[in-house]
Amino acid sequence: MTLPFDGIALGCDYNPEQWPRSVWPEDIALMQEAGVGFVTLGVFSWAKLAPTPDTWDFGWFDEIVGLLHEGGIAIDMATATAAPPPWLTAAHPEILTVDAAGHTLWPGSRQSWCPSSPVFRTYALELVRTMAQRYGDHPAVRLWHVSNELGCHNGRCWCDVSAAAFRVWLSDRYGDIEKLNDAWGTAFWSQHYTSFEEVLPPRITPAVPNPTHELDFARFSSDELLDYHRAERDVLRDVSPDVPITTNFMVSSHQSEQDYFAWAPDMDVVSQDHYLDHRLPHIHAEQAFTDDLTRGVAGGEPWLLMESATSAVNWQPVNLAKRPGELLLDSLQHVARGADGVAFFQWRASRAGGEKFHSALVPHAGRDSVKFREVVELGAALKKIGDVAGSRVRADVAVLWDWNAWWACDLGSHPSGELHYIDAVHRWHSAVTDLGATADVVHPESDLSGYKLVVVPTLYLVSDAVAPALQAVADRGGHVLVTYFSGIVDEADHIRLGGYPGAFRELLGVRSEEFAPLAPGAGVTLDDGSHADLWTELLTTTDASVVASYADGPLPGTPAITRNGTAWYVATRLDEQATAALAERIATEAGVTRAGSPGVEVVRRGEYLFVLNRTNADVAVPATGTELLSGTSCNGTVTVVAGAAAVVQEGT
Ligand code: GAL
Repeated sequence: MTLPFDGIALGCDYNPEQWPRSVWPEDIALMQEAGVGFVTLGVFSWAKLAPTPDTWDFGWFDEIVGLLHEGGIAIDMATATAAPPPWLTAAHPEILTVDAAGHTLWPGSRQSWCPSSPVFRTYALELVRTMAQRYGDHPAVRLWHVSNELGCHNGRCWCDVSAAAFRVWLSDRYGDIEKLNDAWGTAFWSQHYTSFEEVLPPRITPAVPNPTHELDFARFSSDELLDYHRAERDVLRDVSPDVPITTNFMVSSHQSEQDYFAWAPDMDVVSQDHYLDHRLPHIHAEQAFTDDLTRGVAGGEPWLLMESATSAVNWQPVNLAKRPGELLLDSLQHVARGADGVAFFQWRASRAGGEKFHSALVPHAGRDSVKFREVVELGAALKKIGDVAGSRVRADVAVLWDWNAWWACDLGSHPSGELHYIDAVHRWHSAVTDLGATADVVHPESDLSGYKLVVVPTLYLVSDAVAPALQAVADRGGHVLVTYFSGIVDEADHIRLGGYPGAFRELLGVRSEEFAPLAPGAGVTLDDGSHADLWTELLTTTDASVVASYADGPLPGTPAITRNGTAWYVATRLDEQATAALAERIATEAGVTRAGSPGVEVVRRGEYLFVLNRTNADVAVPATGTELLSGTSCNGTVTVVAGAAAVVQEGT
């Protein structure tokens, strides 16, 4: 996947409509000073481009497109459909989204549209066609940007229009209502349907809703927005066939509504937005995880970081600012893990509106600011590492991830409401990266042949294809690590009978009869002295040997960690220390390549070695070649001072 910009481009969202014309020339001059290679233009411009239902106003937009082009700045052109103008929602309130309780979500913010609305689609596609006709062959336009973060705020809608679309989707999936009845297990609680017409979206119910109904609604909602993307894309392809098309993904820990493995094949460029989430315990581990997952979504190819923040956001309980130096380190972390461009929301911090306290490349303080100087330094740094573009990250470890498993695992009425899929995956991904190993985060049905270790954290829902694929890894001597509450159900969320962990019993050589989750705050000790919490289960071994057993808790003396050759099972949630120790043991046995140390991230991308030193001490890392940020050569080691980064082109 080659990005349509030069080198490792610096980019940003540019919203010139928020500023008087007199500011625009200064914008271009400052963009040139910072080395901005591209801007995303027009994301929220609909109301200015179509000021009334019957008029267009492209004069101001033509002017800004011209200024950018003259300034040598490429454009990622948004189709401008993300936020409908008030004249549209006033004339057609039926396009508004409705929540599961039946409440309309009123206009006054953004993304006020139902993904299934044919009325919205008609207006939006007219705008897309008009944009494509006007700018489709403009030399500055290098990429089309469909809508914006499809599904941000409107990922699921429970209105009557959505209900009708859901029925069509179900009828396509099942063909026959009895097949739906089987899949949804409607013999339970008298839920049997006699026709698709009786089915509603899973609105709020008096008691526990049908989980497969909920799961299918999650699948439908993801598919529905993908279908919307395709509708915009088809217009763009028709009118402007030579310009590649993307839409910015939201692979993150707080957004679970799109199955991006299903979306990615429709993208000419995979692009992704990422904001550090300070509500999480390990913010950079989460960033590493989403980067590795975005690369997995992109099939291992380079991708584009379409949005991030130069400092604070405005939407967390407390919006922490980045300290000096962090902007460069955070940006290089994305590049190390496969990004071929680093872009930000937004160019100039707004002076009005709901995001006026969100950071930007040009802060409220203006050009004369620490932030803008850091942005200029970042632009210069990205220029120096431009040749990294196109190279691929090398990883010995795969961590399996599936949005379907996330949706199903986090449904209600499970053994423990304290168990969250994302937490389980984060814990094992960060244990692997803390060891200094690099992991690809990939779909369970992807090609696993190149990996020395495959980690399967809490993969509750799996298809029949996954266990044989993991068995093949173990058969060739690769290591497989499966953790608790994996392999439990099939794709319809039906239990795999005969004992847990269902799909993986044979691979792991174990059988579990009953789950015994722990109360919040309770813990268990293992006979090797390690600690765990959340989960235990009544496990017996069939072919496996016991690595550690519980010393206390509800099941003393029974196995907690087992191995069947190279297939390991961890039936409890080990604390971070014990997780790290086990990851170390297995990675060593598996011969996983490792570099780096706690706080020092070392990632290899093609012939480039990235070293990010987030510690307070200088470090020396083995490397021979040219350090590109300083232009110096290193012979045997590269020294990276505290809080700094190095990018070594090895062998030069
Ligand atoms: C993204 C969105 C941007 C901006 C940003 C703020 O979700 O695409 O338009 O709102 O968040 O962090």
